Amino acid sequence: MNTKQTIAVIGATGNMGAGIARNLSKGNYRLLLCANNQEKLQALVQDIRRHNAAADIEAVDCTVEASWEADSIIVAVPYPAEKEVADKIRKVANQKSVISISNPLNAAYNGLTTAPDTSAAEELQKLLPNSKVVKAFNTVFAADFATPVLDGKQVDSFIAGNNPEALQTVAELVSATGLNPVIAGDLSVSRTLENMTVLLIQLSMKYNYNWLAGWKVLHH
Ligand SMILES: NC(=O)c1ccc[n+]([C@@H]2O[C@H](COP(=O)([O-])OP(=O)(O)OC[C@H]3O[C@@H](n4cnc5c(N)ncnc54)[C@H](OP(=O)(O)O)[C@@H]3O)[C@@H](O)[C@H]2O)c1
Repeated sequence: MNTKQTIAVIGATGNMGAGIARNLSKGNYRLLLCANNQEKLQALVQDIRRHNAAADIEAVDCTVEASWEADSIIVAVPYPAEKEVADKIRKVANQKSVISISNPLNAAYNGLTTAPDTSAAEELQKLLPNSKVVKAFNTVFAADFATPVLDGKQVDSFIAGNNPEALQTVAELVSATGLNPVIAGDLSVSRTLENMTVLLIQLSMKYNYNWLAGWKVLHH
């Protein structure tokens, strides 16, 4: 039997958080949405309910409470805010899947602020040693959630992590957003995935490359 999972989205009012929340609200999930700006958060919840009266969503003003209740936690905040979020949720995120979607881009968007021998996901794992950090969604663009199928093909979302069960859970989440989940490897593969976004941005800036199409490595 498919039991309903509870998912906390921290940073739900952002471009990515809202896209993920909107799409997941159509699936068999209970969503707990958090953000700093409560007015914006309430507006998002009302808008999702307007489009989907059956959506099982709630605005929660406390990140710790939402993460405590959740089975999985999506950290949809800018990379520099992740430490603050990790410090808040460390105790309540024990043994849970925590999804890292960030790209620690530098100011010029031509490199990463992390050292070459690590990644945002691995840094989040260090901050949350008892959680199962999984990289996902970082190679897609926020607008892809509105149109996850382009030219008849689903946009790929690569996934990296060390725990097989967590990888499976996140692959199902990615699928529920309408994207094609591609398990790429262990958490260290996040270094490549985060650099792929730098390349995607550079290609789109230099050649007007279709950023929205994202990466389509696997055709199915
Ligand atoms: N935009 C994209 O296309 C894209 C693509 C791939 C990956 N990403 C990654 O996705 C993440 C989010 O990007 P975004 O474009 O969605 O950013 P965004 O639009 O600026 O949204 C950021 C969200 O994080 C919240 N937030 C900021 N600081 C916080 C804190 N200290 N504690 C709790 N919540 C906090 C904000 O809430 P308030 O507004 O209420 O402060 C907002 O909901 C980033 O790590 C980015 O690298 C983005």
